[in-house]
Amino acid sequence: MIILGIETSCDETSVAIVKDGRFVLSNIISSSADLFIEYGGVVPEIASRKHVEFILPVIKKAIEEAKINKKDIDAIAVTQGPGLVGALLVGITAAKAMAMALDIPLIPVNHLKGHIAANYITYPKLEPPFACLLVSGGHTNVLSIEDYDMVKNLGGTRDDAVGEAYDKVARVMGLDYPGGPKIDKLAQKGNPEAINFPRTHFKDNPYDFSFSGLKTAVINYINNKNQKNEEYSKEDVAASFQKAVTDVLVQAIFHTNSKVIAVAGGVAANSGLRNALKERGEKEGVEVYFPHINLCTDNAAMIAGAAYYIKEDDFDINADSSLEL
Ligand code: KG4
Ligand code: ZN
Repeated sequence: MIILGIETSCDETSVAIVKDGRFVLSNIISSSADLFIEYGGVVPEIASRKHVEFILPVIKKAIEEAKINKKDIDAIAVTQGPGLVGALLVGITAAKAMAMALDIPLIPVNHLKGHIAANYITYPKLEPPFACLLVSGGHTNVLSIEDYDMVKNLGGTRDDAVGEAYDKVARVMGLDYPGGPKIDKLAQKGNPEAINFPRTHFKDNPYDFSFSGLKTAVINYINNKNQKNEEYSKEDVAASFQKAVTDVLVQAIFHTNSKVIAVAGGVAANSGLRNALKERGEKEGVEVYFPHINLCTDNAAMIAGAAYYIKEDDFDINADSSLEL
């Protein structure tokens, strides 16, 4: 079964060809992220216009690189949401046109299910059930993956998503968008015990998170130093912030007592989180899986991969910016 996947939920225009849900024949990503450095974040209208510009060349390149014929494609998969509505519509419109022209099914995919499926591609033998820590720019959740199409949400953030907190702290530190990877790099050279930033836990749900207090504490620390004209170590701030984030995420996902844990979403690329989960997993005999680093952030291979396990196709879909799992 060969599926062509299209992902345009944010600032990456991506098209991929995936065989049987797990084998990537091509995965082309054209990002407009560089354009957003001067704005400090994605500008939805510019992102939509860039998708319109990129989508056809990226489709063409994905088919060429996979060395297949258009007639070999069995279905088209597309991200339906969550995401920026104008951006999603570009992918959906292209997907509908292709499905109609080739007379094949159109499979709508939830972007978050795509992030989970990045693990199936990276580990062809991985199968549900497992516990999943979903950490992206818009989401932070602890999920129980009971089956391919059965996902239970155990809890999530009550305010900022973890990637969002990374990007906001990075902005105050004068780092370019997207700031997550830059903080990660700085953190590797800093002392994680230098500053004791707050960790928030909720008694009524061990799987709920709050990162806005932590974010504010880091921003206050930096502003304070700036006001007093005092030097501070960006490396230590980054490392201490990253340690506070990692501590709460690791504690929550291990609270599930699952023997198999998978991480999904852009922040799954974070070195501190990867190391901390691996270390704890080894200590407690828990298998811990992370997607290949290229599959952590937004890409279409994960969308085509997820579609393989979705039984319903639907030609009449519309974009849903706040689609839930
Ligand atoms: O999953 P994703 O590509 O997009 C959404 O669906 O939101 O995640 C993007 C987020 C951004 O906030 C980015 O700063 C963060 O993932 N991110 C990281 C790292 N790489 C990407 N955060 C921390 N450390 C990283 N290495
Ligand atoms: Zn994403």
